[in-house]
Amino acid sequence: MKLDPSSVRPFFPGLESDWIYMDNAGGSQIARPVVDRVQSYLLESNVQHGASYEPSRLATARVAAGVQAVADFMGCAHDEVVLGPSTSMLLKNLARSIESEFVPGDEIVVSRCDHEANVGPWVDLEKKGVKIVFWDPNPETLELRSEDLDPLLTRRTKLVAFTHCSNLIGTIHDVQAVTHRVRSHGAMTCIDGVAYAPHRCLDVEAWGADFYVFSLYKTYGPHCAALYGRRDLLHRLPGINHFFLEEEVPYKFQPGNVNYELTYGLTGIWDYIDAMTRGPQTTDEPRTTDDPNKALSHEGGAVALTSSRRSRLASFYDSVSLYEESLVEPLLALLRKDSRITILGNPDASRNARVPTVSFRVSDLDSRSFVEQMDEFKIGIRWGDFYARRLVDKLELDATGVIRVSLVHYNTAQEVEQLLEAMESVLQ
Ligand SMILES: Cc1ncc(COP(=O)(O)O)c(C=O)c1O
Repeated sequence: MKLDPSSVRPFFPGLESDWIYMDNAGGSQIARPVVDRVQSYLLESNVQHGASYEPSRLATARVAAGVQAVADFMGCAHDEVVLGPSTSMLLKNLARSIESEFVPGDEIVVSRCDHEANVGPWVDLEKKGVKIVFWDPNPETLELRSEDLDPLLTRRTKLVAFTHCSNLIGTIHDVQAVTHRVRSHGAMTCIDGVAYAPHRCLDVEAWGADFYVFSLYKTYGPHCAALYGRRDLLHRLPGINHFFLEEEVPYKFQPGNVNYELTYGLTGIWDYIDAMTRGPQTTDEPRTTDDPNKALSHEGGAVALTSSRRSRLASFYDSVSLYEESLVEPLLALLRKDSRITILGNPDASRNARVPTVSFRVSDLDSRSFVEQMDEFKIGIRWGDFYARRLVDKLELDATGVIRVSLVHYNTAQEVEQLLEAMESVLQ
């Protein structure tokens, strides 16, 4: 399929603005069906869960359908999904739970190109006697190379935490190469997929991840996040909820439970993907259902995941990545030709190597003043370190960090043209 922005954009009412949004790696616009689902939960099923009366059964089934929607999105089972308010919180909770696996002298490898959400919680375990080993990106390309990991892995390595894709420079890392290496050393992986998930199809089980996390508010959904955990690990690790919930996976990792309306809202991401990819309705593929009887007839209220659904998701993201490559190429071309500009990381648009998140510096202008001048053109981009603080420190950039432009598939070629015109005028 070929992505047509004119059929995409009506699904994002927030785009009806005179601003051009190019700070999407910070948070995307929300798809309309997500908002509809949240509203319908609150207006039609806002009751307590787990009771026998029908509205309660409906509410329970709806939230289960939301969890299933995320499982389908990630390529895993519904009981391997832990939901939470943010990636940062989920990783802090995971670290709190997983610390029981470590004894003093054990080692955790963390990448120096990650958002702090997947660094700080592990570094905190130094207090327990765990040794932290930093995995530095290649100094020229700024990418994490799996071969550089080899000398860092020892008998004591228990976990490797790294990012699938840099939220600063957009480089995609070879997740499978890393998970294979790490697993052969008997260690676990914790992968931050936040910057990757808005652009590519997730397939966490196929990749061999032990933990994989991403934020739904950057993936066209509401403000919450999801963590995949390998089933045996979720059962083995101690929970952080009440003591009598130790057997309840994933509830034992969700103190206070999930946000019900937002979780149901997640089914709306599939409404959007279905609308983008569905030909004539097929009978073998049930849609997310609100009917508690139908929904509850499947374990946990979940709806069967069909291979056709996953293959449509893959084909959707394939068209997204092709389209995004064509969007980002003219931006990179402009940046490459100006000698005052340094692109951080990969200067090529190839969809195999990057997502359309681009950071750069201008030699005679600090990042903040560049971005503030762009505000006048009503183009929302951003400056800073984007919480990839350890990478920005390593690069010894000034306090204004980098200029970041982050596109997604609802941006248009015309918007990119306007961006380039505005940039040329600021750079004059
Ligand atoms: C790559 C990456 N990881 C983690 C996070 C933190 O996500 P959250 O805001 O859900 O805690 C962000 C947020 O910008 C991010 O870009």
